Amino acid sequence: MRCVVANWKMNLTAAEAAAFCETLLERITPQSSMGQGVEVGIAPPFTMLGLVSSLVRTRGIEVFGQNGHAEPKGAFTGEVSMPQLRDAGCSGVLLGHSERRQFFGETDAALAKKVKAAWQWDLLPVLCIGETLEQRDAGRTLEVLGQQLSILAETGPGPLRVAYEPVWAIGTGRRAEAGQVEEAHAFIRAELQRHLAGTAYEVPILYGGSVTPDNFPELLAIPEVSGGLVGGASLDPVKFADLVAQAG
Ligand code: PGA
Repeated sequence: MRCVVANWKMNLTAAEAAAFCETLLERITPQSSMGQGVEVGIAPPFTMLGLVSSLVRTRGIEVFGQNGHAEPKGAFTGEVSMPQLRDAGCSGVLLGHSERRQFFGETDAALAKKVKAAWQWDLLPVLCIGETLEQRDAGRTLEVLGQQLSILAETGPGPLRVAYEPVWAIGTGRRAEAGQVEEAHAFIRAELQRHLAGTAYEVPILYGGSVTPDNFPELLAIPEVSGGLVGGASLDPVKFADLVAQAG
């Protein structure tokens, strides 16, 4: 199954989000790629989850949180829980984005708990993994990916998407080369097989990092690339609709 997920990060106001959804819905129809079984998701900031859900969910577009806390409720100022995400209309949640790991100290141990909490509340986790430039230059890419995926040995199998996002390719305009993506995705598939056995092939692996309508067809042609997690280009509804159409 192909998946295209928009990660808006900390961008857009409610008015801008509403205008985005209006344009997107004009361009995505059940007859187009939605009818071809492409899973389309939008991950807005928390403040716009309810609004975006009310605008797009009846049209078959999923809404994802950008993060979620492992505890269902309590004294965790500034956090949002998995049941709250569900309550706001989410069907999934991005977990372990490199910006969360880098700027907010998110650890693999915390992520194992978050993946389990997401499942408990019937949310689809999109587990983001990827190496920094320093790690790649040191020849440690596969070791880092293996470490980040090792939480699956603890969580066991469940509904899941994995997004491979080389940190050096995020927001830089410097997309990973086809050979680098192919190697990483093949390794991720093998690790999924090791941890999840028979269910591993039900886990689509997305690529993220400077995806645009210009480079997406080439990325989609790489073995084991099932779609994209898109930041910058997902803020433009015309570009995002193009990406969805390309995935169909
Ligand atoms: P980008 O971001 O498309 O702007 O590189 C991708 C992401 O961080 O998910």
